[in-house]
Amino acid sequence: MLFKLSNGQEIPLEMHKTRMVQKINLVPASQRLKAIEEAGYNTFQLKTKDVFLDMLTDSGVNAMSDNQFAEFMRTDDAYAGSMTFYEFAQAVEDVLGYKHVMNVHQGRAAEHLLCRVFAKPGDIVPTNYHFTTTRVHIELREAVCLEIYTDEAIKTESTVLFKGNMDVKKLEDTIRQNGPAKIPFVRLEATTNLIGGQPFSMANMKAVRKICDKHKLILVLDGSLLSENAYFIWKREKGYGSKTVAEIVKEMCSLADLYYMSARKNTCVRGGCIATNNEKLFHEIEPWLPVYEGFFSYGGMSMREIGAMTVGLREMTDPDMAGCSIEQIKYFVEKLKAAGIPVVTPAGGLGCHLDAMKFLPHIPQKEYPAGALAAALYLASGVRAMERGTISCDRDKEGKEVMADIELTRIALPRRVYSMSHIEYIIDRLGWLFKHRKLVKGLTFVSEPPVLRFFVGKLAALDNWGRTLRDAFEKRFGPNY
Ligand code: F0G
Repeated sequence: MLFKLSNGQEIPLEMHKTRMVQKINLVPASQRLKAIEEAGYNTFQLKTKDVFLDMLTDSGVNAMSDNQFAEFMRTDDAYAGSMTFYEFAQAVEDVLGYKHVMNVHQGRAAEHLLCRVFAKPGDIVPTNYHFTTTRVHIELREAVCLEIYTDEAIKTESTVLFKGNMDVKKLEDTIRQNGPAKIPFVRLEATTNLIGGQPFSMANMKAVRKICDKHKLILVLDGSLLSENAYFIWKREKGYGSKTVAEIVKEMCSLADLYYMSARKNTCVRGGCIATNNEKLFHEIEPWLPVYEGFFSYGGMSMREIGAMTVGLREMTDPDMAGCSIEQIKYFVEKLKAAGIPVVTPAGGLGCHLDAMKFLPHIPQKEYPAGALAAALYLASGVRAMERGTISCDRDKEGKEVMADIELTRIALPRRVYSMSHIEYIIDRLGWLFKHRKLVKGLTFVSEPPVLRFFVGKLAALDNWGRTLRDAFEKRFGPNY
């Protein structure tokens, strides 16, 4: 919750207490240099023993609640017909308003099933913005993932509160030009990940729904970051301040024909699901579930995780939960902005997003500034962030680079894991790095897989800049930090 101090300053106040802890270590800069070199300047390839604050992602690494852990012990383990699954289905109906649900092992498994069942070669899937795994699954069906965002979406500095909105006029044009038969579904992603965790408004979702109704198109909602988008609507959209986050979640869900989510984020477990009120659509997907995921009452998830997901689903609409990382991110972003460090505004969900092209304007996009900044941040702090730029875009069919619209370095804030002092530490080290940014140079691929190359690709630092940066860091902070 956002709390106003007597001096007027606003701080994120944690509405939970820590009752179990895990030790973390800060290895010195020289060891960090060795680790990042071995990792091929790819933060995905670091080992956690070398990581101080793991802010790679908010996925699967959130702090579960006491009630979620308690649910682990109560789980009904059964291959078929587990009561834990039926309790989960009841929570989906209560919280999201859907009568039919199936579990999948994680979000991309849902994308796989939806694309396999509904998309065919030559189809077009309009979306407010792609997510990495979504685009791959659409393209594996030889269909096109067409991003229909507003001009504001890719402006990193902005005051527009709903940069995740779909441009409804462009959507109409796309349908008119291609015909509805070529569009298997329209996809809206809540708290749009790759543009910096930016929400869409309820008004926008209603407008998209109207167009889908007019052309009899299926509207798919990726709700992996649903409760955060609802929290933003609650805080930012006219007419919604008097509703509850729970009511907003339900209203959003009521506008979609098909819903899917990664459960690794809002519900703090490891899994996913597909849900709907449309029986026909459900039965089209259902036969493929045991082929790719598992039997109907577990869908590739452990029953323990399903039990904890039930609790997580009921807890995620509590504003203290829905807003816990949002308020931390706001604090983080505003402090960086005040220090002149280029960061995505308005502050979004999921994490704090640095604008790498503005942070490192001397590095051309083809030398991957966002990847270089993630590696440099690690060297200067032991913080593991993630590249969300051109490295995260695979090459096209001809092998040509696809330049990202924006080059972001994402410092994710897992829910209820890190504290204010951790954030202050990063702000301090980022301040130092910003002053020494000229020492950071680009990266070049050494080995590059053809699909989702950001996961395992290895790169090298041009002119060995990692060493220069390490030397400057040690000169200022000594050999132990
Ligand atoms: N959709 C969105 C909006 C996501 O953010 C993710 C994952 C997925 C789908 C895929 O779900 O990982 O459970 O298979 N985002 C993670 C991230 C990986 O780090 O942002 P998954």
